[in-house]
Amino acid sequence: MRMQNRIGLVTAAASGMGRAGALRFAREGAAVAVVDRDAEGVAQVVEEIKAAGGRAIGLVGDLREDDYARHIVLQTASSFGGLDFVWNHVGHPGPAAVEGIDMADFELAVDLNLRTVLVTTEAAIPQLRARGGGSLLFTASIAGLAGSGFSPVYSAMKFGVVGFVRSLAKRLAPEGIRVNAVCPGPVDTPMLRVFVARPDQAATRGNDVEELAKRFGGATPMQRAARPEEIANAALFLLSEEASFITGAALPVDGGMVA
Ligand SMILES: NC(=O)c1ccc[n+]([C@@H]2O[C@H](COP(=O)([O-])OP(=O)(O)OC[C@H]3O[C@@H](n4cnc5c(N)ncnc54)[C@H](O)[C@@H]3O)[C@@H](O)[C@H]2O)c1
Repeated sequence: MRMQNRIGLVTAAASGMGRAGALRFAREGAAVAVVDRDAEGVAQVVEEIKAAGGRAIGLVGDLREDDYARHIVLQTASSFGGLDFVWNHVGHPGPAAVEGIDMADFELAVDLNLRTVLVTTEAAIPQLRARGGGSLLFTASIAGLAGSGFSPVYSAMKFGVVGFVRSLAKRLAPEGIRVNAVCPGPVDTPMLRVFVARPDQAATRGNDVEELAKRFGGATPMQRAARPEEIANAALFLLSEEASFITGAALPVDGGMVA
């Protein structure tokens, strides 16, 4: 088992890649806190982990709230007796438009792509330090590695995530805390539909959402979107001891899209 006796949390874990990661980490021996605002989804993931003989707790709340973003760290540590890893996976596409931008949606995107990530990390660092080291993983995007004409605002935020990861990696490396990002291309989850069908996305307006998602996924050199489990595999590697000399990396998992 690749995560035996490890303790960690995964945000946005009721669906998509976060769900796939929580299930996988638990199968590899980790005790996992399943964090999401979707109570039903959280309960299902926790039940699935426990039914397979794993250890999990569910923490339901809104990650826009700083108190909750701190609480998930402290609760995980006190429930299982420490903290070894965090996958900060939550994010939000935000507005597609620049001209006529919806500032409320922009603020939501700032909160979910950057603010909660910072608050959770602030709370997590002393916990990881107390264990003599650990691993932090963030979900950026290929839009955090190359500009996205389709989504400039989202791209700015995911570049921000990658910048944070690279900088924090240097700061925390002497303490044995590794910091990395996973950068997915299109992944077949509900968020892919939200992303391609935003009401202010002029290029796709009025088109069928499933058709758009298929077209977007088909634009990778592998001519398909990723399955959530394919991102979870990369997350498992980066969080585990197999990646013991990897820090400050932003790993594309994109079927060759930014190659
Ligand atoms: N799907 C893609 O194509 C794709 C590509 C690149 C990067 N990403 C990134 O992946 C992450 C999203 O992952 P996914 O595609 O697995 O999503 P998903 O749509 O499958 O799940 C998103 C989850 O986030 C939860 N959530 C949303 N807002 C929340 C809040 N305020 N508090 C707590 N939970 C909240 C939802 O309840 C849901 O369970 C984001 O960081 C996104 O930017 C996605």
